[in-house]
Amino acid sequence: MPRTDNDYWDITESVGSTALGVAAARAAETDSENPLIRDPFARAFLEAAGEGMWTLMADPDKSAKLTDDADLLAQLQVMIDFMAVRTAFFDEYFLNAAASGVRQVVILAAGLDARAWRLPWPDGTTVYELDQARVLDFKSTTLGRRGAQPTARLVSVAVDLRQDWPTALRQAGFDRSQPTAWSAEGLLRYLPAQAQDLLFERILTLSPSGSWLATNAPAESALEPERLARQREQSQRLRAAAAQALDTEVPELEDLWYPEERTDVTEWLRDRGWDASAITMGEMLARYGRNVPADDILPPTVFVSAQRR
Ligand SMILES: C[S@@+](CC[C@H](N)C(=O)[O-])C[C@H]1O[C@@H](n2cnc3c(N)ncnc32)[C@H](O)[C@@H]1O
Repeated sequence: MPRTDNDYWDITESVGSTALGVAAARAAETDSENPLIRDPFARAFLEAAGEGMWTLMADPDKSAKLTDDADLLAQLQVMIDFMAVRTAFFDEYFLNAAASGVRQVVILAAGLDARAWRLPWPDGTTVYELDQARVLDFKSTTLGRRGAQPTARLVSVAVDLRQDWPTALRQAGFDRSQPTAWSAEGLLRYLPAQAQDLLFERILTLSPSGSWLATNAPAESALEPERLARQREQSQRLRAAAAQALDTEVPELEDLWYPEERTDVTEWLRDRGWDASAITMGEMLARYGRNVPADDILPPTVFVSAQRR
C-alpha cells in the first residue's frame, strides 16, 4: 500500500515490518559461523512475530529450501552482510561516544534494535528510544516476557518522527544542555525528503557542542532509474518466493520508501560546524572483511558520523 502523511503501523505491517527484516538479518548473522555482531534478542522478536517475509532471511537453511533462485539467495546474503556491518558500525559509534563521556543517547526509529539491552553502557547513561507506539509496545512486551533487563536507564518515547517529537522527548526528560549521541539507523529513506530536513534541523537545535550523530543515508545512486527497476524486480521475486513458501501476505517493500532527491547530510552538517565524515557501502563491507559485491547489487547507502565542535 502506498505511504500517506500520517500512516501508522504494527510490527508486522508496512514500515514496521522492516524492523523485523533487520532483526532477521541480525539473527542470521548471530547464528552464522563467524559473526561480526551478536544480538541475543533478535530471534526472540521473530518468534514472537510469527512467519513473514523476514523468515526468508532468518534461517539460511530454510531459505535455501524455499527458493532455488541463486541470485535471490545472493541478494539475501548481501542484506545480511549489510545489516551486520551496519550494526557493528553503530555499536562502535555508541561505545566511542560513551567512552568520550557522553551519557545521553537518543535512538531515533529504534525499531527492534536491542542496544539498550546488549551494549555495556557506562553507569549514568540514559537511552531514549523513539519509534511508533505499536513498534515499541511489541518490543517491550517481547523483551519483558524474556525477563531481559536494559543495561542503561531506558526511556521509551512513542511518537511519529514526522510529528513534533522534540516536545515528546523533552517531556520524557531529555536534557538539551547535555551533549547527546544521536542515531538514525535505517530511517531516512522512509521519511519524505522534507521530513528528513526537518529531522536534522531539530537535532541541531537539541545538540550542544560535544554532541555526536550517526546515520545511514540513501546514496545518490539510489535514484538511478536502472537500479530502481532492478530493485523492484528483485523485490517482486522475493515477494513471490515468500508468498509461495510461507503462505503469507507480503508488503511491496519498494512502496515503503520515498525515492526523492535529498539533502547531502554530510555537507549539511559540515556547513553547520560539525566534523562529519561519510563511508560508502563498499568501503564499510571491506572495513569489516565482508565480501564486496558488484556495484549494481550493493545497497545504495552511505554511513555518516559526526561530532559537533
Ligand atoms: C528499517 S527499521 C530500522 C530499525 C532500527 N533502527 C534498526 O536498525 O534495527 C525502520 C524503523 O523506522 C521506524 N520509522 C520509520 N518511519 C517512522 C516515523 N515516521 N516515525 C517513527 N518511526 C518511524 C519504523 O517503525 C521502524 O522501526
